[in-house]
Amino acid sequence: MRTREAVLPDAERIHKLISTYSGDGTLLPRTLAEICENVRDFVVLEDGGEIMGCGALHLYGPHLAEIRSITVDRSCQGLGGGKRLVRALLAQARKHRVSCICLFTRKPEFFSQLGFALAQREDLPDKIYKDCCVCPRFHCCDEVAMVRGELPKFAILPEPPDFLVKLQA
Ligand SMILES: CC(C)(COP(=O)(O)OP(=O)(O)OC[C@H]1O[C@@H](n2cnc3c(N)ncnc32)[C@H](O)[C@@H]1OP(=O)(O)O)[C@@H](O)C(=O)NCCC(=O)NCCS
Repeated sequence: MRTREAVLPDAERIHKLISTYSGDGTLLPRTLAEICENVRDFVVLEDGGEIMGCGALHLYGPHLAEIRSITVDRSCQGLGGGKRLVRALLAQARKHRVSCICLFTRKPEFFSQLGFALAQREDLPDKIYKDCCVCPRFHCCDEVAMVRGELPKFAILPEPPDFLVKLQA
């Protein structure tokens, strides 16, 4: 098994892999269009030329990146592929000199083996603004936040929409 950066022809297989685990809420659902648009975030796990796993690193800024959409095909689990994917994404984060890597999961034991520690979601406003605010499970979330590295001291949030600025004025 080896990992490599994903390219556009991998998008459909990545979509299938993620869909297997998005129905029960294990992974956030990702549309094919979203995967194509963000394919450069993804790393894939190959075995004998076939894609058996994937994971993505979303960059918020030098202060924070997030590991997301990480999964290995059921037929290949328990063979070290998941760890390989996480290490490949951590290498990407190092390349971009990101000081903190976060993730949200229901499987903290898997990630604690890879140097991640539990955190408070309030320490990660970039993530809350991007995903949590629009999540139907915002008030009953069963995922835990984990981080590796130094907690961010600032956030880079998108400009508020015009209507909100006018309302606040
Ligand atoms: C989580 C997942 C990516 C792990 O992939 P994998 O290839 O099975 O993992 P590895 O073989 O690299 O396992 C590494 C270690 O983690 C442990 N581990 C694997 N899955 C685990 C889980 N669900 N919970 C706790 N520990 C787990 C293994 O026992 C192994 O430990 P060891 O090295 O001491 O034997 C895979 O089980 C998966 O795709 N699950 C469904 C999607 C998912 O839950 N993604 C993570 C959500 S954030």
